[in-house]
Amino acid sequence: MATRPKAQQKAGEASSEAPVSVLVVHGPNLNLLGEREPEVYGRTRLADIDKELKSLGRELNMKVETFQSNSEGAIVDRIQKARGKSDVLLINPGAYTHTSVAIRDAIAAVSIPVIEVHLSNVYRREPFRHHSTIADIAHGRIMGFGAESYSLALRAARTMAEESRRRIG
Ligand code: DQA
Repeated sequence: MATRPKAQQKAGEASSEAPVSVLVVHGPNLNLLGEREPEVYGRTRLADIDKELKSLGRELNMKVETFQSNSEGAIVDRIQKARGKSDVLLINPGAYTHTSVAIRDAIAAVSIPVIEVHLSNVYRREPFRHHSTIADIAHGRIMGFGAESYSLALRAARTMAEESRRRIG
């Protein structure tokens, strides 16, 4: 991430700074969004969420990369690959949210600030969804807004990166 110039900018303003690099990771079954339990997850398809995030990213001077996998190991590999490259990680680990120590360890290993995202409000659902293996190492968590949870998270990532640039620069 480039060091901040002296002049302060508001989040979202056009910028000559290096873009904030964001990796968005979607876990298992999220490839079926739009078809899968639409009463819970909505009718927006994953490809449309990714497209919207990239377009919002351009507005906010952020470089957005997206990745989906149904496999825990592939998610761990992708997080490791982001080390030293991504400024922020947005992750919806899907069902792995509730079980995966490996994804938690990968996040801790790469030291990239994380925003945990969910389409549904997991606390309004079955008790087994109330536990998250990454909640206590996430910078913040956004859930319950359907597809909009992701764009809210991207805006939060922008603010977070701004604050971190301000601290460093
Ligand atoms: C989810 C919630 C999880 O409990 C579930 O297993 C998912 C999606 C969400 O976005 O609401 O696959 O992460």
